[in-house]
Amino acid sequence: MLKGIAGRTAVVTGAAGGIGSATVRRLHAEGANVVAVDIDAVGLDALAAELGERVLAVRADVTSAEDTAMFFQRAVDTFETVDMFHANAGIESKVIPVAAFDIDDFDKVFAVNVRSAFLGSAAAVRIMMGQPDRGKIVFTASIAGLKSDAGVTVYTASKHAVVGMARGLAKETGGLGIRVNVVAPGPVDTRMMRPLEEGLGALAGLDAAGIQAALAVAIPLGRYAEADEVAATVAWLLSDEVPYMHGEVVTVGGGLYP
Ligand SMILES: NC(=O)c1ccc[n+]([C@@H]2O[C@H](COP(=O)([O-])OP(=O)(O)OC[C@H]3O[C@@H](n4cnc5c(N)ncnc54)[C@H](O)[C@@H]3O)[C@@H](O)[C@H]2O)c1
Repeated sequence: MLKGIAGRTAVVTGAAGGIGSATVRRLHAEGANVVAVDIDAVGLDALAAELGERVLAVRADVTSAEDTAMFFQRAVDTFETVDMFHANAGIESKVIPVAAFDIDDFDKVFAVNVRSAFLGSAAAVRIMMGQPDRGKIVFTASIAGLKSDAGVTVYTASKHAVVGMARGLAKETGGLGIRVNVVAPGPVDTRMMRPLEEGLGALAGLDAAGIQAALAVAIPLGRYAEADEVAATVAWLLSDEVPYMHGEVVTVGGGLYP
C-alpha cells in the first residue's frame, strides 16, 4: 500500500476514460474516497457500479467554471476534504497541419486540455490551502508536452501549456505545502490512440496495424503503456511516498523520451 492515500479523498477528472478510470481504480484500491468526474454519464455509472462504496460519480463538463465549482463542492459536502486532485480530462486533436486547422477545433482542444486544468487546479488549491494536511495535484500532460511532432501541433501546444502551468503553480504552492507534479505519458492503449493512429497512419500511408507497429517500434520497450501503468505513477505522486517530488514532469514513455 502507498503511504498517505487510505482514508483521504481524491478528485479525478476524465474518470470514465482509460487513464482516469485506471487512476480511480488504483486510488480506490489504496483505500481512498474517490470523486469520479466525467462528461460521460454512462461510463461513470459503470465505474461507480463496479467499485461500490467510497466512489462518488459526478457528471460534469470540466471546461465549465460552474461545473468545476459544483464537483468540488460535491466532494467537500460528501467527504469533507479534497486531498488529491488528478487533472486528467483531455481530448486529442485532429491530425492535420496547422495551416489547415479549424479555429473552433483549436478552441475546443484548449478548452478541454488547458482551461479545465486551470479551473480545476485553481479550485483545488483554494480548498487545500484551508486544510491542515494541504494536498497534492497531478496533471496529465503528455510527452507531447515536452517535444513536438508534425500533424499534432495543436494537441502538442495544449500539453506544453499544461506543463508550463503546472511548473508555475508548483512555484506558487511549494511554500503552502501543496505538491504539484505532472505525469507525461507516451502512447497509452486507450480510446484516444485510435483516432491518432488513424490520422498519423494517413500521413504515413499506413493502415491501423501498420501505424501501431511503427509507433511501437519507436518505443524502446516496444509497446504502448497500459493505462494502469500510468495510474501507478499518478498514485505514487499523489501519495506520501515522495514528499520531495514537486514541480516534476515524470515521463511514462517506455524510454521514448528524451
Ligand atoms: N492515450 C494516450 O496515448 C495518452 C498519452 C499521453 C497523454 N494522454 C492524456 O491522458 C489523458 C486521459 O486520456 P485517455 O487516454 O484516458 O483518453 P480517454 O479518451 O479514454 O479519456 C478521456 C476522458 O476525458 C473525458 N472528457 C473529455 N472532455 C471532457 C469534458 N469537457 N468534461 C469532462 N470530461 C471530459 C472523456 O469523456 C473521457 O472519459 C488526456 O489528458 C490525454 O491527453 C493520453
